[in-house]
Amino acid sequence: MTDYTSMANGGLPRISPYQAGKPIEEVQRELGLSEVIKLASNENPFGMSKKAVAKCAEALNSSHIYPDSNGYYLKQKLFEKFGYDPKTITLGDGSNELINLIFQTFINNKVNVVIPAYSFVVYPMEATVADAQVKTIPLKDWVIDLDAVYDAIDSNTRMVVLANPANPTGTAVNINKLKEFVKKVPHETLVVIDEAYNEYQKEEDFDDTAKWIAECPNLIVSRTFSKAYGLAGLRIGYMVSNEEIASLVNRLRAPFNVNAIALTAAIEALDDTDHLKMVVAENAKERDRYVKYCEDHNLYMIPSQANFVSIDFKRDAFPIYDALLHRGVIVRPLKGYKLDTILRISIGTHVENTKLFKALDEILKSLK
Ligand SMILES: Cc1ncc(COP(=O)(O)O)c(C=O)c1O
Repeated sequence: MTDYTSMANGGLPRISPYQAGKPIEEVQRELGLSEVIKLASNENPFGMSKKAVAKCAEALNSSHIYPDSNGYYLKQKLFEKFGYDPKTITLGDGSNELINLIFQTFINNKVNVVIPAYSFVVYPMEATVADAQVKTIPLKDWVIDLDAVYDAIDSNTRMVVLANPANPTGTAVNINKLKEFVKKVPHETLVVIDEAYNEYQKEEDFDDTAKWIAECPNLIVSRTFSKAYGLAGLRIGYMVSNEEIASLVNRLRAPFNVNAIALTAAIEALDDTDHLKMVVAENAKERDRYVKYCEDHNLYMIPSQANFVSIDFKRDAFPIYDALLHRGVIVRPLKGYKLDTILRISIGTHVENTKLFKALDEILKSLK
């Protein structure tokens, strides 16, 4: 028998496929439930801007034409909104594709990658596929320890990858410390800041990090329309880097990697600032309800600046996850991260969160 696994490139045979949150339809089918809510994949419960939806419907009529492979109008919109030179922007089929392209462009089996512990699982997966050495840096009180990350950088470190706010912890680093850190990293080491959740950050911890690239040519900032803009199902993200890096990553990108509907939706979503403000304000309000719930029930919630919270139940959390599932609420166990006592819960609408609290009340009482 031919051993095809041994023929696969790099460390690919050593990774497991990415485990996505359970789809609603699957839980309905398997458990015979009619009403199921999903608070498992950090999606936006308010959906995308209604103005964007209307434009997408129009754009569907032109779907027989390939999309603009260079995303001219979206790049212009990003320039208009944030001042990023279009030559420094690369568009991706979700920011996940951009992370994949960055690793493919720069990482190989001769270099190491520095990644904080409990980072988005895709980073170590990509590093393993590239057969690179991974240096995992412990967190300090669930927050990325920038001093320890800096100390781990050596002459062979090709890249540092930081999510800010991070997933699955939801914590953000102090923005001034982050700037100091980025400024002192040697230019031979790339620093990727993954800002999938940055729209949800507290104002005092926010800065337009993509503007730092003028001073720090080794910085790459990745963003997504999947979260606060609510376009997860359309798959679109962008990264900002220096022009040379953008040009390299752009060579790897498949032609037409971002579809026309996603391009249209992203342009409209950027313009609908009222929708974005509503989403962020509602999320903050509902996040406070989780803080209160955890205080009232003596549970530890990792301080979150994102659209999800991770709660430590101080016991094996899998039975709680399973009991929630049977009550029609899908959340995310963090067993894959070896955080067996923690569940990650995406913040839903007021009604959805109320349903979660009620189900959790019943479950916690029954476990006493
Ligand atoms: C930290 C982080 N980065 C990137 C992504 C990828 O998002 P997308 O590919 O939808 O842009 C996610 C998705 O959950 C995430 O949590």
